Amino acid sequence: MRISVIGAGAVGGQVAFSLAVRGYEVRLLDIAEGLAEGKALDIMESAPLYGFTGSVRGSTDMGLLAGSDITVVTAGKARQPGMSREDLLKINAKIARSVAGEIKKRASGTIIIAVTNPLDIMTKLIFDETGFDSEKVMGMAGVLDTSRYKYFISQVTGSPYGKIDAMILGPHGDRMIVCDDVRVSGRPLSELVDPQALGALRERAKNGGKEVVELLKTSSAFIAPAASVTRMVDAISGDTGEVMPCSVRTLGKYGLPDVFIGLPARLGRRGVEEVIEKELTEDEIKGLAAAAEQILSSLQGL
Ligand code: LAC
Repeated sequence: MRISVIGAGAVGGQVAFSLAVRGYEVRLLDIAEGLAEGKALDIMESAPLYGFTGSVRGSTDMGLLAGSDITVVTAGKARQPGMSREDLLKINAKIARSVAGEIKKRASGTIIIAVTNPLDIMTKLIFDETGFDSEKVMGMAGVLDTSRYKYFISQVTGSPYGKIDAMILGPHGDRMIVCDDVRVSGRPLSELVDPQALGALRERAKNGGKEVVELLKTSSAFIAPAASVTRMVDAISGDTGEVMPCSVRTLGKYGLPDVFIGLPARLGRRGVEEVIEKELTEDEIKGLAAAAEQILSSLQGL
C-alpha cells in the first residue's frame, strides 16, 4: 500500500510517522523546500530504534503522487488560539483546490482522506475539483472527535476505551452532533453519570480541538488527528468493513442536502463502501440538517 501525505506540517509529519510505524510506504510532500525531506529523514532515523519496516520519502515533487493508493491531504493553515475552524475557510479553500488539481492530474486512482479545516467544506471542494467518485473521497473528523469523547468518558467512568460505544457525527465544528446513545459495557452512560456531568462531557468533547489549541498556543492538535487518519487507512487497506464516523457525501441519507458531513461510513478497499443510516433522535436529525444547511451556505459563499 502506498500512501501519500500532502502537507508536512505538524499533522502531516505525525501522520507520516504513524503510518511508517504501521509498515506503510509513505511519500510526504510539501512545497516548502526541505520540510518534507527533513521530517522524512528524522522519522527514518528512528526506524532502527523502533524497528519498523515502513518507510517515508520526503519531497517537494508532486510527481511522487503517482501510484498512490491513498492520499491524505493535510496541507493548509492550522488554527491558532481564538480562531474557529471556519476562520480558515478562504485561505485553505485555495490550497485545497490546488492540491486537488495535482491529485487529479497525477493519481487519478487514489482514495483521498482530507484533514484540512474547515474539514467538511474542504472535503467537498476536493471532491468537486477532482471529479472522483464519492466513495473515493472522505474527510477525517468523527473518528477524532469520538476518540476524544471516549477518552473523557473513560476518565469519568473508569471504563476501558474498548467498552465504550459512542459516536460523534455531523460537522467538525461547533455544531457537531454528540449522539445521545452512549453505552459503557452495554449500559447507557446516563445511568452512570448525573445529567450535569453528562452535559460537561459532551461540551468537553465538542471543544476537544479548541482545548488543545489553547494549551499549545502555536499549533493545533496533531497526535490524535494522526492516529485517527491511521485508523482510517488501516480500515481501507485491510478492507475491514469497519463503520466509523467520517465526513462523506450525504447521498440523500437522513434527508440531507448534497454536502459532505460526518456520518457513519463503512470503510473498505473501495473507500467509503456504504453510508449507514443509523437510528438517531429527532433532535440529532434536526441538528444534522441545520449543520448541513450551514455548510451549504459556506460553500455558496466561496
Ligand atoms: C482538531 C483539528 C485537527 O480537531 O481540527 O484538533
